[in-house]
Formats: sequence, structure tokens, C-alpha cells
Amino acid sequence: MNKSVVPFNKEYFSQIVDFVKPLWSFSDWEDSFRKFYTEIILQNSFFENGLAFQIAENQEPLAVTFFQKKFDKNNLNRWISENAGDFTAAQKQSINLCTEYLACMDSKVHSLMNENDIKLSLFVSCKKGYGSIIFEKLWNHLKNLNYKNLYLWTDCECNWQWYLKNGFILIEESIYEKFNDGTKKYKTYIFKKKLND
Ligand SMILES: CC(C)(COP(=O)(O)OP(=O)(O)OC[C@H]1O[C@@H](n2cnc3c(N)ncnc32)[C@H](O)[C@@H]1OP(=O)(O)O)[C@@H](O)C(=O)NCCC(=O)NCCS
Repeated sequence: MNKSVVPFNKEYFSQIVDFVKPLWSFSDWEDSFRKFYTEIILQNSFFENGLAFQIAENQEPLAVTFFQKKFDKNNLNRWISENAGDFTAAQKQSINLCTEYLACMDSKVHSLMNENDIKLSLFVSCKKGYGSIIFEKLWNHLKNLNYKNLYLWTDCECNWQWYLKNGFILIEESIYEKFNDGTKKYKTYIFKKKLND
């Protein structure tokens, strides 16, 4: 498992989309819309800031992590306008609900951050074990860049327990009412981990 961490190659976007699509979109949706919807989540997390990383092997991403500084801006709106198809009213509503949710959670975390803090905006491991590997390799890099705290938000559709097992402090647990489905509450979580004093 001696693979190196290198800057993220944007050509891997579609492979990451295919990997997280079953987790982050509904199986009864049309496949092209599922891909579009999932890529919204990825595009929302990606910043041209030199803080997106990967471990890959044989043209396949094994793990990726994207980070955001407090004032970094993404290209989500441009990406949506350039890539949107001829969507139905229901699909448009799903897109709006999704972007509203992402903006709400992002702004909660940004309000907790100082300029010298950093946010983990995407963390995906396509092969078990590489989540910890990429994280351990990046930890010292982030410390050396003098960031003070690492923040992130996640939710019940993600492997949020990973952060509890890996020394993060749960600082807020909440419910996103608009995504409740009657029987199940949609839980969200904000975690923090100290990088430097
Ligand atoms: C969160 C995530 C990135 C963690 O990555 P990971 O590679 O699964 O994490 P780890 O490296 O810690 O490995 C997980 C477990 O697999 C075990 N493992 C590692 N290598 C293994 C292998 N080759 N075979 C079997 N098990 C293995 C680890 O020991 C660990 O076990 P533990 O939970 O009992 O400690 C990953 O679950 C993921 O991509 N989830 C989907 C997206 C997501 O939810 N992202 C995070 C929230 S936004």
C-alpha cells in the first residue's frame, strides 16, 4: 500500500461520480440525472486552490480528498448552467433542494471557521483502507501549512462514523427537516479536529 498522494486529476471526476452515485442519489431516478445530481455534490466540494488530492493506481482513483479555505469559491453555478439538460419539474426541484441543502450546511461550517482553519469538503475512498491512508499522509502536510483546525460536515447518507473512530470531535448533530421522509429523520453532523495550537 505504498502509494503516493498527488494533486487531484479532474479526469477522475466521472469515476468518483459513479462510485458515490448509489450512495447519494435515488435508484429509481434516470441514470443520466443521477449522474448530474451526484456531480453537483462533487462540484460543490471542488476548489481550484491546490488542496484537492488523490491516490490512484492504473488510471483508477483509490481515494480522494478535497479541502476548502474559508473564502474559497467553487464553480458550481457555472458548471450547472453549462451542463444542465432538459429536466422535468420534479428533477429541477430535486436540484434546488440539493443546492439549498449544500449551501445551508456549508454556511453553518463557514460561520465556525477562522481564516486559518480548513474544511474537508470531500472524502471518498473507492477501496477499503485507502481512506485512512490518504488521511494520514495529508495530515502532516496540512499541519505544515499551519492550519489550526479541520472542520467538516457530513450526514446520515455518508460514513459519518468514520470521523468518530478517527479522533474527530462531534460539535453539532442536527436534523435537516426538508429531507426527513416521515419515518426517518435526516441527520447532519459537524466535526472538528485540531491541527495546530
Ligand atoms: C469514509 C471513507 C472515505 C473511509 O474510507 P475507508 O477506506 O473505508 O476507511 P479506512 O481506511 O479507515 O478503512 C475502513 C475499515 O476497513 C478496514 N480495512 C482496511 N483495509 C482493508 C482491507 N484491505 N480489507 C478489509 N478491510 C479493510 C479498516 O481496518 C477499517 O476498519 P475499522 O472500521 O474496523 O477500523 C469511506 O467509507 C467512503 O468513501 N465512504 C463513502 C463516502 C463517504 O461517506 N465519505 C465520508 C463522508 S462525506
